[in-house]
Amino acid sequence: MSNLIIELQGKTQIITINRPDKLNALNKETIAELSNAIKEAEQNDEVISIILTGAGEKAFVAGADISEFHEFNREQAKDLAKGGQDTLFDLVENTEKIVIAAINGFALGGGLELAMSCHIRVASSNARMGLPEVSLGVIPGYGGTQRLAQLAGKGKAFEMISTASMITADEAKECGLVNHVVEQSDLIERCLSIATQLQKNSPRAIAAAIRAINAGYKEGVNGFESEIDEFADCFTTQDFKEGTDAFLSKRKANFTGK
Ligand code: COA
Repeated sequence: MSNLIIELQGKTQIITINRPDKLNALNKETIAELSNAIKEAEQNDEVISIILTGAGEKAFVAGADISEFHEFNREQAKDLAKGGQDTLFDLVENTEKIVIAAINGFALGGGLELAMSCHIRVASSNARMGLPEVSLGVIPGYGGTQRLAQLAGKGKAFEMISTASMITADEAKECGLVNHVVEQSDLIERCLSIATQLQKNSPRAIAAAIRAINAGYKEGVNGFESEIDEFADCFTTQDFKEGTDAFLSKRKANFTGK
C-alpha cells in the first residue's frame, strides 16, 4: 500500500505524505515512494509545479522514522544519511520544477529537512518546526545542518540545533525559514495561488533559474559564472523567442517550455 496520495490539480501535482498515525514520519518505503513521485512529476509534461504536504491537521512530517534506525551501526547510519540525501533531499532541491512545501503542522528532523529541500515554504499558523536530533544523541543527517544555516543564518542554526527546540510558524517567517504563514484552512489554496502565478512564466527559464540559484551553494562551482551560462542558454530557447515576441507585440506569452 502506498504511503502517498498524489493528485493533479490544474498543472500542480499535490503529493501528500499519508502516514497520519505516525505523524507522517519518513520510513524507508516512504522515502523511496517520494523519490519516485518527484521523478514522475518532473517527467510529466502536464505538471508545471509540485506541492508537498502531510496528511491530517497535526503534522507535515515528524521526522525520520526513529523505530527504523535505533539499532543501526556506523556503516548503516552512513548509508541511511547518504542514501536519503541522494535519493530524496538533493533530488527535491535540484528538481527543475518549483517544489512548494505546504507545512501543515509539525515539521521536525527529517520533516524540516524535507521542507528545507523544497524551493518555497508556506506554513500554517499551527506549524512547529525544529531539528531535535541532539535530544536523541544524533545530529541532522539529511542536510539539516547545511540548509538551516543557509536559510535562517548560522547563529539561528547553532541555537535551534543545540537546544533541540521548536519554533512557531511566525518565528520561522521572521528568520527566513518560511516564506509565508497562513491559516491552516487556507494553506493549500495559498500554495496553489503561488503555483498559478509562476505557471504564467517560462518553465524553461524557471528551470534555468533553479539551476543558477542552486549553483551558488555547490562546492567548487561559481554561481555567477553558472548564471552567465544559464542566461546565455535561454537565448537558444523557443520560450525566450515567444516571451520577447509577445512583449513586443503587446500580447500574452504562450510558453511551451521548449
Ligand atoms: N518516528 C517514528 N514514529 C513517530 C515519530 C518519528 N519521528 N514521530 C511520531 N511518531 C509516532 C509516535 O511514536 C506515535 O506512535 P504510536 O501511536 O504507535 O505510539 C505517533 O507517531 C503519535 O505521536 P505521539 O508522540 O504520540 O504524539 P504527540 O502529540 O504526543 O507528540 C511530537 C508529537 C511530534 C512532539 C512527538 O511525536 C515527537 O517528539 N516525535 C519525534 C520528533 C523527532 O524527534 N523527530 C526527529 C527524528 S530524527
